[in-house]
Amino acid sequence: EARRSSDEARDIAANTPDLAALAAAIANFDGCPLKAAGARQAVFARGAPDAAVMVIGEAPGAEEDIQGAPFVGRAGKLLDKMLAAADLEGRVFITNTVFWRPPGNRTPTLAEQQACAPFLERAIALVAPKLLLLVGGAAAKSVLGQGDGILSIRGRWFEWRSADGSIEVPALPTLHPAFLLRQPGAKKKAWEDLLTLVERLDRPERPP
Ligand code: URA
Repeated sequence: EARRSSDEARDIAANTPDLAALAAAIANFDGCPLKAAGARQAVFARGAPDAAVMVIGEAPGAEEDIQGAPFVGRAGKLLDKMLAAADLEGRVFITNTVFWRPPGNRTPTLAEQQACAPFLERAIALVAPKLLLLVGGAAAKSVLGQGDGILSIRGRWFEWRSADGSIEVPALPTLHPAFLLRQPGAKKKAWEDLLTLVERLDRPERPP
């Protein structure tokens, strides 16, 4: 049953020709249990449709649920400040592992993330970013299947692959800005991670 609904989600997502159609398909999708758990609206994405970097967070919070856009609350303000400082303003596309706010801002379950995953994967295919920045342990775990703690995997490169293996994108896990708000001492590490990202982004590609 879970399998059937994820196949269905994959079909729906794969048939969206562009990001506007994908956003509409997400809003119409009933296969993620979070949709019926009290969220006001779907929260998909914001940013440049042809961004070099896709930022993937955990889940919409209270402010995102109200505004219908990701990372627009306190954590989002910090994220934007850090991206601007790294000269990435206007070069990012920002989304989450799930598209509805979990009740009380709890961490989304793996089942909720898996229900939304075909849409996230389609977003990656449509934007075709050069690099992924995975913000927080829940995003790293869902996107990479990487269960180790975020403090041990942050700042290291992983390779994200689409389910059919046709797309590969280097992915860098980093600390979540909400964590940085609680632990300002950890900002230095997140900044190092952003520099690691930018260094690879601006590195000329070697000819084959
Ligand atoms: N935290 C997230 O992970 N995503 C958002 O969109 C907002 C806060």
